[in-house]
Amino acid sequence: MHQASGLQPPIDLRSDTVTRPTPAMRQAMAEAEVGDDVYAEDPTVNRLEQRAAEIFKREAALFVPSGSMGNLLAIRHWARPGTEVICEQKAHIHLFELASMSAIAGCMPCTVEAEDGILTWALIEPHVRAKASLRQQTGLVEVENTHNMRGGAVMPLQAMNEICDGAHAAGLPVHLDGARIFNA
Ligand SMILES: Cc1ncc(COP(=O)(O)O)c(C=O)c1O
Repeated sequence: MHQASGLQPPIDLRSDTVTRPTPAMRQAMAEAEVGDDVYAEDPTVNRLEQRAAEIFKREAALFVPSGSMGNLLAIRHWARPGTEVICEQKAHIHLFELASMSAIAGCMPCTVEAEDGILTWALIEPHVRAKASLRQQTGLVEVENTHNMRGGAVMPLQAMNEICDGAHAAGLPVHLDGARIFNA
């Protein structure tokens, strides 16, 4: 209909998941060198992991096929079963990942509201459980940058650094859901 009327079709902005690979992307995939990733013999995956480690200045990186899987692995790795994961109220790990943090990792969400999507250590700190209590303990602090359900809010580096400093001083690890970190 749009073509017949001479109008450009509307851009589908429901989600970035509606995008399609371009012919050049399909060609690159078809021509990529492959190998056994279990034995770290896939040169393309190895290069991708090395590049990711370089960009994020980390010792190593691990390729996972989806963002949800990356989040779940991080939660399972960092937080003991029975502990709480502090996250923003509309965080993707809380609203969209089939409660996998509870069903698979054995953790509970402890949500903190940040209407503009920008969590701060001042908002988080009151939710950190005291170590000596009989309640469940805090296991992990999670932040999302950019924040999907808060209009793509970008967390400033200073807020992220303050959260990391505060959490680490309290003995807590921090996980960044960076599904759109390159947009941030
Ligand atoms: C912030 C955020 N984290 C994680 C995911 C999950 O990514 P995937 O669909 O690759 O599992 C998404 C997906 O939109 C997301 O927006």
